[in-house]
Amino acid sequence: MQTHRWLRTPDGTAPRISYGADYNPEQWPREVWDEDVRLMKEAGVDVVSVAIFSWARLQPAPDEWDFAWLDEVIDLMHANGIGVDLATATASPPPWLTMRHPEVLPVTAEGSTLSQGARQHWRPTSPVFREYALTLVEKLAERYGSHPGVVAWHVNNELGCHNAYDFSDDAARAFRAWLLARYETVDALNHAWGTAFWSQRYGSFDEVLPPRLAASFPNPTQQLDFARFSSDALRGHLIAEREILNRVTPDIPVTTNFMITGDTKFADYADWAREIDFVSNDHYVTQDRDELAFSAALTSGVARHRPWFLMEHSTSAVNWQPVNRPKRSGELFRDSLTHVAHGADAVCFFQWRQAEAGAEKYHSSMVPHGGVDTRVFRDVVELGRILQSLGDVVGADRDPADVAILFDWESWWGSELDSHPTELLRYRAEAQAWWNALLDAGVRADVVPADAELAGYRVVIAPVLYSVPAALRKRLEAYATSGGHLVTTYFSGTVDENDHVWLGGYPGAFRDLLGIRVEEFRPLYAGETVALSNGTTGSLWSEPIDIVADDVEVLATYDHDELGPAVTRRPVGSGSAAYVSTRLGSAGVGALLPALLEPAGVASELPEALRGEIEVTSRRGAAGRIRFLINRTDAPVELTGIEGEWLHGGETLPPRGVAVVKG
Ligand code: GAL
Repeated sequence: MQTHRWLRTPDGTAPRISYGADYNPEQWPREVWDEDVRLMKEAGVDVVSVAIFSWARLQPAPDEWDFAWLDEVIDLMHANGIGVDLATATASPPPWLTMRHPEVLPVTAEGSTLSQGARQHWRPTSPVFREYALTLVEKLAERYGSHPGVVAWHVNNELGCHNAYDFSDDAARAFRAWLLARYETVDALNHAWGTAFWSQRYGSFDEVLPPRLAASFPNPTQQLDFARFSSDALRGHLIAEREILNRVTPDIPVTTNFMITGDTKFADYADWAREIDFVSNDHYVTQDRDELAFSAALTSGVARHRPWFLMEHSTSAVNWQPVNRPKRSGELFRDSLTHVAHGADAVCFFQWRQAEAGAEKYHSSMVPHGGVDTRVFRDVVELGRILQSLGDVVGADRDPADVAILFDWESWWGSELDSHPTELLRYRAEAQAWWNALLDAGVRADVVPADAELAGYRVVIAPVLYSVPAALRKRLEAYATSGGHLVTTYFSGTVDENDHVWLGGYPGAFRDLLGIRVEEFRPLYAGETVALSNGTTGSLWSEPIDIVADDVEVLATYDHDELGPAVTRRPVGSGSAAYVSTRLGSAGVGALLPALLEPAGVASELPEALRGEIEVTSRRGAAGRIRFLINRTDAPVELTGIEGEWLHGGETLPPRGVAVVKG
């Protein structure tokens, strides 16, 4: 990552958690802007993201530019003390561009060209798109770089949200160049891709294509490399815009909004985070509150625990799920404060004023269709007040936990490829099951990328760490032998960086460390379960484990005549290495946790009565330790046994409420 650089702030202003939204004034008549400013001030808004989808307005024709309206918006915001996170406006190319240059439109694996008419219809590798986009970025940087109201740059928007995988001829050319840089020779590519199989040998890089729709399973390493390439291609666009911004406006920090949420897996954000000054994230809650906390913790991990910017979430309903329900009372506060609890120093929404037209008119906003006399607007004003009262939090890092969950995009991509022992495996669900179990136990955990420094963690959990290059294997071995407690699971240590199996028996890369050997995977059918001797139940996967070292302890066995040990642990050096060979789910993991955590000296941070009901997080900065106690339930909870200075909330936490305690 570049050095952490936060929003520019006007001199002399007290530190505060920034608050605001995407603001799209070009969708409204001028007189509405004055009301917007008045209401923003009422709500305590101090930052807005502007011009995200404004390309067609800024450049109505190839040689025509119209900045007057944006000049006025930025001046208006600045005059009223509201900073502008200025977008580079490249997210949605205007119709004139795609009509004139249809060759910028993305192509699907099936060969269909995506049309204009929605947004993000551009190829990440199109040289034509890149040229038009960078011209726009340069114009904006030159025009607004010295405007004191611009507090940050917002590159594009959710890069890749609709165009992550492009199979066009541009993509094919760029993919070949990427492969040449990675492998240097076609022999090396043939080896890595295992092309002796199914007569796939390439005579030159020119014969290689993206994994377009094929007659059967496309080559897995080709698919993996295409996933890596696609993430890199979008990152390349980010870098191209950022370089212009850094050159023209070196004093303005640059960010782009990530999508660390749910099943969105196209971007290796741990890698992208190195390219920006501060991490921003967009998150929308589905029906799983703990997924929000997991995503926020992962965002913090990607941000290396420095403060990050919640660029978008929703005040209430979204418009893109099959059924879109409003948030319940208290959820707007709880969702926002959970992000703050995990390190967000800015809380923003999509969007300021609910649209009256267009595809997102049923998406909630800060100012709803119903106007200001609404529950949502009253909550918005109240949230602004709460955030302003939490100045002590600003700048504080997320307090390191004793336990880390490793989250690895390579393993995510690799473990969910086709033609595997099961197609039911979901990488993120396994990681989240461990997260939820730790939450239930009142044990704080970090969620960190695979290259994170591990030495400070007492326990490192590596769920489904499928792809393990030799260097990672060595790091994890060294971690355990020098006193760390490593826990890994089924389908871990299976392949190297080329998706080649570590031979000699599973889990290849960790076999020696764990002192076990598995000859065959035994996945379970949908709905099938297998009981374990410790009273828990496995699903998805099982394995007949042979113990091959004398000092392996069996923590649970399968109650099944074809299966033996299910969970093992081995002392190694001054630490240990444990293995869980089935999917236990959060309840099963919870039952196992004491056996895994107690020897490592990890204890719950919550009094027993609060475990399961409360999520506890901690940030640490100039004001010392600040804890967030979040009510995960729909009933009031008494926070008995929690001591400190109450910055927000009190001992009786309402349903879905949050308390903030210093000390
Ligand atoms: C995001 C996007 C916003 C808006 C929002 C709606 O993906 O960046 O522009 O579409 O979703 O939830």
